Amino acid sequence: MQKQQILELVRQEVRSAVIARKEFIIAANWKMNKDKNDIIGFLKNLNKEKLENKNKIILFPPYPYLYLLEEQLRYSKALYGMQNIFWETSGAFTGEVSVEMALDFGCKYVIIGHSERRNILMETDEMAGKKVGACLQHGLSPVLCVGENLDERKFSHYKERIKSQIATALSQVDIEKTGKIILAYEPVWAIGTGMNASPEQVEEVHMFIRSVLDSLFGEKAAACIPILYGGSVKTSNVRDIAVAKDVSGFLIGGASLDFDEFKRIISLLDT
Ligand code: PGA
Repeated sequence: MQKQQILELVRQEVRSAVIARKEFIIAANWKMNKDKNDIIGFLKNLNKEKLENKNKIILFPPYPYLYLLEEQLRYSKALYGMQNIFWETSGAFTGEVSVEMALDFGCKYVIIGHSERRNILMETDEMAGKKVGACLQHGLSPVLCVGENLDERKFSHYKERIKSQIATALSQVDIEKTGKIILAYEPVWAIGTGMNASPEQVEEVHMFIRSVLDSLFGEKAAACIPILYGGSVKTSNVRDIAVAKDVSGFLIGGASLDFDEFKRIISLLDT
């Protein structure tokens, strides 16, 4: 056997050992996709295949289908949440949905500050902060998305951008509640483009995010905040990114829509 082949085998062994030891969060962000029948089929498969393993699965369907998850995931370990939330509890806010409504449907998580909401719907870091506050006040876990655009990456401004997104959105967070927060690093240039960040780029930013969290909350409290990676995650890259330092899981868009593809990703992160 060639030296190169031996090195590759050793690399694969080490990767498998690291993946087997880690407990990942595998979150599916379905965005504005799927319909009722499609979701029913997906949930049936999920219940039938018993994909539950050491990892935690969280599904984020469009709002109108939440009731399907409430009904059909009752006996499954998979969890679910909303793709957005409004910070007020009730009132004249046409088109918005409150934390209480999310809780009514058994949601445990809410995606906040996704780049599509920031870029298309003009959401700001301050709005993200209000949404994080509303979630934590009522016991929901916010999944706060941060990440730079292509220009910020090209001109090496990405750390500044990410730091200010985190600092603004989490400035009011009570240190006791850090256990509920999840961060998701999603470089905008890698979302839905097929262009994922390399494991080295992911590791660099995740370690940077950890240091920002350390300075906000102190090392001990910050250590319990999972940091997910999102942006063109698929079967071919998930294991390489999974072993990067400070990667606690994934927020997956396109590759989570098809049950078989999602199932393959789940099993690749099992052992
Ligand atoms: P993608 O989306 O996996 O399709 O790139 C990820 C996301 O936007 O959360």
